[in-house]
Amino acid sequence: MKLRSRHLLGLQGVKADELNLIFDTAVTLKQILSRPIKKVPTLRHITVLNLFFEPSTRTKISFELAEKRLSADSVSFAKASSSVVKGETLLDTIWNIEAMKIDMIVMRHSVSGTALFVSQNCDSQVINAGDGCHEHPTQGLLDIYTMREKYGQIKDLRVLIVGDIKHSRVARSNIWGLKAMGASVAVCSASTLLPFEVEKMGIDVYTRIEEAMEGADVVNILRLQKERQSSGLLPSLREYSNRFCITKERLKYLNKNFTIMHPGPMNRGVEISSEVADGPDSVILPQVTNGVAVRMAVLYLLSGGAKIIE
Ligand code: CP
Repeated sequence: MKLRSRHLLGLQGVKADELNLIFDTAVTLKQILSRPIKKVPTLRHITVLNLFFEPSTRTKISFELAEKRLSADSVSFAKASSSVVKGETLLDTIWNIEAMKIDMIVMRHSVSGTALFVSQNCDSQVINAGDGCHEHPTQGLLDIYTMREKYGQIKDLRVLIVGDIKHSRVARSNIWGLKAMGASVAVCSASTLLPFEVEKMGIDVYTRIEEAMEGADVVNILRLQKERQSSGLLPSLREYSNRFCITKERLKYLNKNFTIMHPGPMNRGVEISSEVADGPDSVILPQVTNGVAVRMAVLYLLSGGAKIIE
């Protein structure tokens, strides 16, 4: 079996069999990360451009490491030191780099739809590393992979996503991927931070955190984007924290064997307390480890999935 698209632009429309193929491949590739020599020659014929127009710690380094672990050649683009600052357009930038012969582009951009636009105007395969408020598919994949690793399966798992759902590409990728895998998905936030007609996404919607947490297995806590306060969507960070911060006291509402997740970066004390973030039920750092394995799987499968390794 192969992935149906030559790009990974989002998880909306990706079927469960494709998601399971990525997860099963990631299980195999994750073993490489524990070896003394964490490298296989599988993708030595591939050149990847990491094109980040927005800041990133986890996603950028995770892709760079995934590429190195599979022996792909990779180059990373930094907007501030590029000719974009002289006014060169996005497509001119990419067409010039493509002229140097690359195969794949991993790209992050602040504008929703940019990854699709690039995929329609360039020859390279495109992996969306986050586009505006639209999707962040590899984050969704690594989140679901981490849940699957702990619970064995996703079907009927009750997953609550808390935070700025309206502006979150992570929320959208989680929702589409989890629904495809048969999870029961709920979101909770202030009503100003929920998307228009959110209920049409086929999920449960809450504005009271205690009610939302009742019976959930997983809480995936999103970063409160502090700039939202100045845009009038939040009265104050303190009020947000009082109403929605996941604290140790609030964990009693969850099912036994619950899991705490956060894609990072965290605002400790705003959306999550340090006690919860660093507590025994948190898988925040395992999520980051799994991110490398899942991105290796995506690179490997998009490249055609030749023989893995040894
Ligand atoms: N989770 C995530 O996308 O983090 P970065 O912005 O650091 O890549």
